Amino acid sequence: MRRKLAAGNWKMNGLSAQIEVLNDLINRHPAPTVDLLICPPATLVGAAATATAGTPLMIGGQDCHTATSGAHTGDISAEMLGDSGAGAVILGHSERREDHGEEDALVAAKTTTVQAAGLIAVVCIGETLAQREGGETLNVIKAQLAGSIPADAAADTLVVAYEPVWAIGTGKIPTLAEIAEVHDFIRAELTARFGADFADKIRLLYGGSVKPTNAEEIFAVSNVDGALVGGASLKAEDFSGIITALEAS
Ligand code: PGA
Repeated sequence: MRRKLAAGNWKMNGLSAQIEVLNDLINRHPAPTVDLLICPPATLVGAAATATAGTPLMIGGQDCHTATSGAHTGDISAEMLGDSGAGAVILGHSERREDHGEEDALVAAKTTTVQAAGLIAVVCIGETLAQREGGETLNVIKAQLAGSIPADAAADTLVVAYEPVWAIGTGKIPTLAEIAEVHDFIRAELTARFGADFADKIRLLYGGSVKPTNAEEIFAVSNVDGALVGGASLKAEDFSGIITALEAS
């Protein structure tokens, strides 16, 4: 059985005081029955890892460079994130693809680097509204999946997040049937490429406007093994509600 995962992405939000949210979450969920991950901005990774050391709450990064070190001003490596206490890195988020022109091949190279550093790669894929309305969703998902996950990917440190771009931060979510269609498709694609043993190990997260109020119905969907949560991960009360819904699913 895949252990479910509730992951939070703080994006470019949070000053030092935001660490208190982690303490609050740990107090609310001292012994969770699902895996917990929070990805704060890079500036807080070290402090967040210190605050959560010895607890079940894992800390992650939101991006990294493909190289381990070198002349890349402003970038950070997977090894650096790991050294700061991170256990995972989000890769290929649609905001990286949009803001920084990241394409599938770069995401695949980053996935290799992250796994080589011993960290979990949370690889994000998802269609835009125009692609959804144009009936292109499954084609887009197929291409992003094929391009963003390297041929030598390791199953035990790979998570895939399906995040429809139009659902991120908008309060809109696909129908439950649409989520099921994409998640079933991702599992089938991974099975076809890597085999069932590999595909059955991969947690598939849904992301995009997950809230405590819609979490229960989303977590009941086939092949949804958890969530990648943006806005609702910034407040302990909201993320706690999502964790509770996942534990009950
Ligand atoms: P949201 O963001 O929950 O605020 O919609 C999700 C994400 O971008 O990971």
